Amino acid sequence: MKFFVDTADTDEIKSLAEAGLIDGVTTNPSLIAKSGRNMSDVIAEICELTTGHVSAEVVATDFDTMVSEGRKLQKIASNVAVKLPLTMDGLKACRTLSDAGTAVNVTLCFSANQALLAAKAGAAYISPFIGRLDDMNIDGMEVIEEIRIIYDNYGFETEILAASIRNANHVKLSALAGADVATVPPNVLRGLASHPLTDKGLAAFLADAKKAGIKI
Ligand code: E4P
Repeated sequence: MKFFVDTADTDEIKSLAEAGLIDGVTTNPSLIAKSGRNMSDVIAEICELTTGHVSAEVVATDFDTMVSEGRKLQKIASNVAVKLPLTMDGLKACRTLSDAGTAVNVTLCFSANQALLAAKAGAAYISPFIGRLDDMNIDGMEVIEEIRIIYDNYGFETEILAASIRNANHVKLSALAGADVATVPPNVLRGLASHPLTDKGLAAFLADAKKAGIKI
């Protein structure tokens, strides 16, 4: 399973990349806005911090402008994946850009049928939003499970990128459901490493090592 980090904060990305924990990055217009930086600059900088795909999202909604924005974003770096919304125009733009060799991440997916269309349109990634479904009392994980079955039934190569992940349980359940990638906020990613019994056990080992004068 690949881990992407869901942020446009370059300090966070640098530190997680140095720890060898990430395989790529996803951004969206809200995350770019939060960075307070020019989009091309921040995407270019992120693309230098990872060799994996960096999703950069268009802001147009019509086919022609989405394609032209996608081409501009793709020129920023070879590891840009163009992120397009799951609309009819977005799917058409996905087909055009994918046919031209651009990796496309189709975003804002909330159903298995939408994911089926994205795969038909040649998407490299489909991003089902788990947390936003859970917020509406709809089981987001069920959508991931359904997409996995459908993609396996037909051998679609589109990667399932579990998105809108809010907690460690979402990560575990996405892995169990067979998502290819999870895009995780930095705090959730760091939180995966922590367990109170790890802290307790380490403290005891270190105390015993000190008492015994163990040196390496
Ligand atoms: C994914 O690519 C999106 O950027 C992100 O996961 C959305 O998460 P949110 O629902 O927490 O905003």
